[in-house]
Formats: sequence, structure tokens, C-alpha cells
Amino acid sequence: MRILTWVKPTDSQIHIWNYFGAIKPMMQLAEKFKDAEIFLFLANMHGFTYVHDGKEIKQNSLNVLKLYAACGVDMKRFIIYNPAEIPGHAQLNWVLTCLTHMGFMERMHSYKEALDKGNAKNISVGTFCYPILMAADILLYDTDIVPVGKDQKQHVEYARDIAIKFNAAYGETFKIPDVYTQEDVWLILWIDGRKMSKSYNNYIWLLDDEKTILKRVKQIPTSTQTVEEPKNPDECNVYKICKLFLTPEEDEILRKRYQAGGLSYKDAKDYLYEKIIAFVQPIQKKYAEISDQEIIDLVKKNTQKVNELAQKKIENVYKKVGFTL
Ligand code: TRP
Repeated sequence: MRILTWVKPTDSQIHIWNYFGAIKPMMQLAEKFKDAEIFLFLANMHGFTYVHDGKEIKQNSLNVLKLYAACGVDMKRFIIYNPAEIPGHAQLNWVLTCLTHMGFMERMHSYKEALDKGNAKNISVGTFCYPILMAADILLYDTDIVPVGKDQKQHVEYARDIAIKFNAAYGETFKIPDVYTQEDVWLILWIDGRKMSKSYNNYIWLLDDEKTILKRVKQIPTSTQTVEEPKNPDECNVYKICKLFLTPEEDEILRKRYQAGGLSYKDAKDYLYEKIIAFVQPIQKKYAEISDQEIIDLVKKNTQKVNELAQKKIENVYKKVGFTL
């Protein structure tokens, strides 16, 4: 069985929320599907829909992959590769583009989101056709499962539809992938009660220093309840964030302290601060030990192997659509 997942190099770093929303669920998935082969690709061609600075994309890619490794992602278990160096992605992308109607793409989440941001005329054609490239990523490799959040579900469903359509017209060619929706950890609200995002300036990078982390923790809004008052932990942002870092036993103790009264928000924040520091420090240490070159060598090696699969699939597709003479 093959699972396909990705890492997007659109930021120079990874924030804590990415860890809990993407990296941790990915590692849990690997645990759950012990025998599955897991393809993890660098979504650089995808990030190019809005990050156009070549140096930035390259450096982000390396930083982010090093951070994945530093977070404990097993670089042997996860086959990390670079689709931009595999011609099959662009080749299949074109074939599928010609078989897809505009009306279908107009309904896609990625395009609608871009429309919501304003000027329709300035949306790149790449953004419009984005789900087609995604379908190529998926269908090239006979993927069985694509784990996605709710926002990407529709795109994977399009990949299923176009695969079914292709198979019906040209004969059995593509495996029909299943969507696997993971629990929405993304709903955890962050420091200012909003989701963590670069655009809200409310993020904590995994590589942030102690001073920055302290500043962020201090920014967490709390209620006006007095120290003495018993508090409901589930209504407190500090608790909700803290919970991510706690063992069930520690969680139990903290909940009791909230409920008993006498816990100040300052104390709760100090505790959270300590927990975040204890979490990021080993990651930062490991990150410093990994070189860019190590990552490049590994990705190149994997990419060569994965390319062989892609090439086979493309040969088959090209024959069927009459491109090969
Ligand atoms: N669209 C995904 C995102 O924005 C990334 C992605 C690219 C992807 N190709 C894919 C996801 C194929 C699943 C399958 O986060």
C-alpha cells in the first residue's frame, strides 16, 4: 500500500502549529499503517503558484526538510523526493489539463480562495489549474491513500474523478486513490484566539529563541478573572495550547489547578513557556547538526528511484493518448 503526503516550502521555517497540525499526524499515520510505503514529496512546484523567488524556494525547501528530520521524521521510512526533477509530473499535468473542463476548475477551493482575495484577472493560470498538478502528483504513483485536511479533500476528489474518466476512455491506467481525512487538529486556536499564521503575526517558529517565545506567550489574551477564582480550563487559551505539550498525567494536574482556584494566568503562562522551551530545544539542537548537503544527497537519490515509477506510468499514458510513435 502506498500513502502520499507532502511538505510545502512556502515559508522559511515551520511553526509549532505546523508541527501539531502536519508533522505529528503524519508520524501517527506511519504508526497506524505500519506496512505502508510512504511517499513524501516537496511541494515546490506547488508553492511556485505564489512564491516566485528562486533562491527563497530553494532555501525554504532545505530548511523545512531539515526541520522535518529534526522533529524526528524518519528519513528512511518516508521517501522524500523532488517532483520538480521528475518530468512525469509536468507531462501528466498537461494530459490531464486537456481533459479537464474550465467549469470544473472554477468550482475548486484553491481558485475560490484566490478569488476571495480580490482581483480575478491577476490570479495566475497556475493557481487556477493547481488541482490538476495535484492529480498528476497522486496518479503517477498508483497512490492508495492521500491523507488531507478538509480544505484539500475536494482536490483529491477531482483526482479520483479524472482518473475514473481517463480509465473509462483509454482503459485501466490509474489506480483510484482514497481520501483519508485526519482529525482536524488545525482547529486549535492559537495565541490570539486565531489560527497560527504568518499573516497574523502570531506564530512561534520551532527555531525561535527564548526571548521571542516569551514575548509570544505573554501576548496570549486571558480573561479578567482574579487569581482566587476557580477557572474552567477549557475556556482558557493558555490551557488549550499547553495541553498540546502535556502528558495525560500533567494534563490532569493542570486541570485540577485551574478548577481549584488560586492559579494566576502569569503562573499558567510561565508553565506554558517552560513546556514550549523544553519542546523546541532538542529540535533546535538536532537541526544545527544536519547539513544542507545531507538533505540534497538523500532527496536526489530518492528522486532517481521514484522517477523510474513515474516514467513507466508516463510511457503507458503517452501510448494510450497516441503521443508515442
Ligand atoms: N495542495 C496541498 C497543499 O496546499 C499540497 C499538495 C500538492 C498535495 N500536491 C498534492 C496534497 C497531492 C495531496 C496530494 O497543502
